[in-house]
Amino acid sequence: MARTSFSLLIILIACVAGASSASTFDDENPIRTVVSDALREFETSILSVVGDSRHALSFARFAHRYGKRYETAEETKLRFAIFSENLKLIRSHNKKGLSYTLGVNHFADWTWEEFRRHRLGAAQNCSATTKGNHKLTEEALPEMKDWRVSGIVSPVKDQGHCGSCWTFSTTGALEAAYKQAFGKGISLSEQQLVDCAGAFNNFGCSGGLPSQAFEYVKYNGGLDTEEAYPYTGKNGECKFSSENVGVQVLDSVNITLGAEDELKHAVAFVRPVSVAFQVVNGFRLYKEGVYTSDTCGRTPMDVNHAVLAVGYGVENGVPYWLIKNSWGADWGDSGYFKMEMGKNMCGVATCASYPVVA
Ligand SMILES: *[C@@H]1O[C@H](CO)[C@@H](O)[C@H](O)[C@H]1NC(C)=O
Ligand SMILES: *[C@@H]1O[C@H](CO)[C@@H](O)[C@H](O)[C@H]1NC(C)=O
Repeated sequence: MARTSFSLLIILIACVAGASSASTFDDENPIRTVVSDALREFETSILSVVGDSRHALSFARFAHRYGKRYETAEETKLRFAIFSENLKLIRSHNKKGLSYTLGVNHFADWTWEEFRRHRLGAAQNCSATTKGNHKLTEEALPEMKDWRVSGIVSPVKDQGHCGSCWTFSTTGALEAAYKQAFGKGISLSEQQLVDCAGAFNNFGCSGGLPSQAFEYVKYNGGLDTEEAYPYTGKNGECKFSSENVGVQVLDSVNITLGAEDELKHAVAFVRPVSVAFQVVNGFRLYKEGVYTSDTCGRTPMDVNHAVLAVGYGVENGVPYWLIKNSWGADWGDSGYFKMEMGKNMCGVATCASYPVVA
């Protein structure tokens, strides 16, 4: 019973997360001079349960900012305890002066175990990309690339309470390819992929692979628009309609497993590329800088999250991939993150592919 109401709550949280405002939340300085009555009342109700330590004030501000509503005092205490642990992790990490920082975001009252269950798909064996078909050329690579500057990268979306990252990686790649080919923006249906792409080894909210989703769209006869087939974030019956197709896939190109030089060439000269990597604990609290980890793996069996590489560059001497995530525009660096380049970090080049559209 308690479990059920908690998961319902998570769905609501996930749905509002992407839309929450960009008000300045400063966890280092929780005391503000002007506080609205509604906020004061909300804070008082939280503090009456968890006490009024510094962490408690930060927690009250956090809960308000992200629209968290805890149903019982027990739940509030539990979330406060998890939040406090995450706050300690953030502060001790940020003291180390590494190439990236962590910060409070809408996942700060979740444990790693909950996060893994609600946001990540099961690891997929993507070894079908062992032999890629991307063709290298002799052309010199630009030092940096950011496809957002060309205006072909669509806005960041939020996958909510469903391990459907692979569908967002797929639509992100197709939306960019469509804009590049036809000069018009488009938003495409993740839900169709969740509901209909099972015959191509995809598993809806339990995971899948962009390369397999491109194959599905290619042989299915197209992908509907977002408007015609909107996102629900739940597994459902296939409602594909050929009248609402927004894009057709002619082909997909795979990057050879682990070949970052191919991936870089494709991102430099072709368009944004769907990539996957292994999310490990800590990553969900990423704020900015170049992410690096010595605990993540890089084999086809390790990768558990699909995203979209939209560029690359160098920051403070560290080369990086610029990557669009699907956890809302409020997560990380305006919905994006940077991942260290040159070591196949977390398997970023293990499972990469891009579509050719019509
Ligand atoms: C992954 O797929 C490859 C090729 O289909 C297969 O050889 C390999 O055994 C699979 N690995 C696992 C752990 O399922
Ligand atoms: C790319 O990989 C997918 C599966 O991940 C496979 O179905 C497809 O045939 C591959 N494409 C090429 C051209 O090898």
